[in-house]
Amino acid sequence: MHRIDTHPILEVEKKQIVKFYFDGKQIEGETGFTIAAALHQAGYPVHSHSLRNRNRSLECGIGKCGACEMLVDGQIKRICITKVDNIKEVSEIPKDYTPSIISKNTDQQIKIYKTEVVIIGSGPAGLAAREILNNHKVANIVVDNNDKIGGQFTMQTHQFFFFEKEKKYGGMRGFDIAETLAGNDRTGIFLDSTVWDLLEGKRVAVKNIKTDEIYYIDCEYLVIATGAVPFMPSFENDDVPGVYTAAVVQKMMNNEFTLLGKNVLTVGAGNIGYLTSYQLMQAGAKVKAIIEAQNKEGGFPVQANRVRRLGIPVILSHILLKAIPNEDYTGIVGAVIAEAENFCPIPGTEKIIDGIDAINICTGLVPDDQLLIKGNEVFGRNCFGVGDAIRIGEGTSAVLRGKQAAFEILESIGTRYNYNDYLTVSKEYIDSQQHPYRVIETPFKPTPERAENKPFVLIDCLYGFACNPCEFACPHGAITKTSTSTVPAIDFNKCIGCMDCVYQCPGLAIFGYHQKKDWLFLPIEFACNEQSEVFLVNNNGEKIGEGIIEKILKKTNKTNIARVKALNLQTEDLMQARGFILKDLFPEKVEYKPNNENIESQTYICHCDDVKLEEVKD
Ligand code: SF4
Ligand code: SF4
Ligand code: FES
Repeated sequence: MHRIDTHPILEVEKKQIVKFYFDGKQIEGETGFTIAAALHQAGYPVHSHSLRNRNRSLECGIGKCGACEMLVDGQIKRICITKVDNIKEVSEIPKDYTPSIISKNTDQQIKIYKTEVVIIGSGPAGLAAREILNNHKVANIVVDNNDKIGGQFTMQTHQFFFFEKEKKYGGMRGFDIAETLAGNDRTGIFLDSTVWDLLEGKRVAVKNIKTDEIYYIDCEYLVIATGAVPFMPSFENDDVPGVYTAAVVQKMMNNEFTLLGKNVLTVGAGNIGYLTSYQLMQAGAKVKAIIEAQNKEGGFPVQANRVRRLGIPVILSHILLKAIPNEDYTGIVGAVIAEAENFCPIPGTEKIIDGIDAINICTGLVPDDQLLIKGNEVFGRNCFGVGDAIRIGEGTSAVLRGKQAAFEILESIGTRYNYNDYLTVSKEYIDSQQHPYRVIETPFKPTPERAENKPFVLIDCLYGFACNPCEFACPHGAITKTSTSTVPAIDFNKCIGCMDCVYQCPGLAIFGYHQKKDWLFLPIEFACNEQSEVFLVNNNGEKIGEGIIEKILKKTNKTNIARVKALNLQTEDLMQARGFILKDLFPEKVEYKPNNENIESQTYICHCDDVKLEEVKD
């Protein structure tokens, strides 16, 4: 476990060091960061033990599951969301621990707020609903258990896909979208506040987890924007420290600047698998491979291409069977995988991937809908589910559904609004959920004469889906994308080869070429030095040539452009190059070892009480 000191996208500020004790040892943490980050960086990933004394670590990483509860200065706290600021001592909760009864000051009055709409969750969907309600002067309060707005957006360091009529969010990074949606006036956003019940009479019961204050909010409408929780398949040793869900990996890496492993195996070739693998590489880790149980990749093709161009192999039809723990079960050293058909391992095909210290589980999300179920009971038709709480989707869909729900509330209240806006948002919401489908086989190309004459770009975006920042990126009107079902078209007569579109495509799918000079203009979001020698690669990460980085053109959005001089590729061959890998970092081929490890292990369904899969089956 390592502290991330530099990052190509995020500003890593040095904060004030604070010290606290963990089981008698002095640990250093940084103000504003969590106890979980400090303990992991200090090499203590075990926070609790199961009934039968198995080591346990973080499970959700976002304050939702309770797996990380410890005693912090005598109080039970979830260390994945509790900061090190002003704490003195952290210890594991003893097995026989009984919390002391805190007498409540019954004279203290409980605050009761009154508003029209309560929005639970300040992620993309919740903030989008708030924006529309605020624009129509409908009173609302947003409640969120985190200490900052943005929900999952705060962890997203990549540029987002959006299909828009006017450019607003497309190409922005997740954390910037959250800030934009929230606006400058944050009145009515109650952070550090968790909803612990929905009471008869449309009352929302809330506790401030920092101050322990309890308060109520009475309202007419409820918007549930509680997001999702990771779906974790069961396998042997799935809760040994070193095995983490993508939510934990992302939160620790992008919010807490803590890398949970240097050599990582990612499980799941969907968008989350691609994005977290890409982000791990940005943060300084190596992703050895991405395995996927299905025989096809699940995520957006442009996302898949960008990780393959880094040399990360995507291994299909392979399933994870077991994490191989280290001697004292405080980490992992490998994984047993097998070929798979219909998500079942094929006997006799088991093999080991070793040399890893973390497994990043990206096998999907499930809606966190417990409050939605209760909300439907208490608020009936006045309860609206939005974002991942109702359907797992992209940030775009979450924003649009949040807006749509807000319009539906306006309709119900009888507030005047533009119905066409509602229809537009509804159509965009439907379109945003369209799964990419292939429209063209290869990128549009200029004629050989045009290609020789002036620099140009190839847009390697072959599938229709809800994205169009490229259209706004070209100052010369050379790029058009007419709908979510089409791909961007380019007019090579209008294109002057300025390369402005190269760094503004969230899919990093636009590449520049200058044939007369054997130059490539390639988007990069990694630190690298000019004059470095590189292998030029295609979208599969295969070496197709060699080059030298002549210049890094720095861009304000931090997606830079590397001008690479190709040393042995010209004209048509040059146009096959889509990326580069520094020569000294070119990854070795994944080597498997025979499965001869014989450590006894079990699959547990309940990690706290050690309920085994076999017992459930019986
Ligand atoms: S290279 Fe410049 S002119 Fe050509 S499509 Fe891109 S932005 Fe437009
Ligand atoms: S080329 Fe255009 S549509 Fe394709 S990913 Fe880039 S910005 Fe989106
Ligand atoms: S609540 Fe901290 S890991 Fe789930």
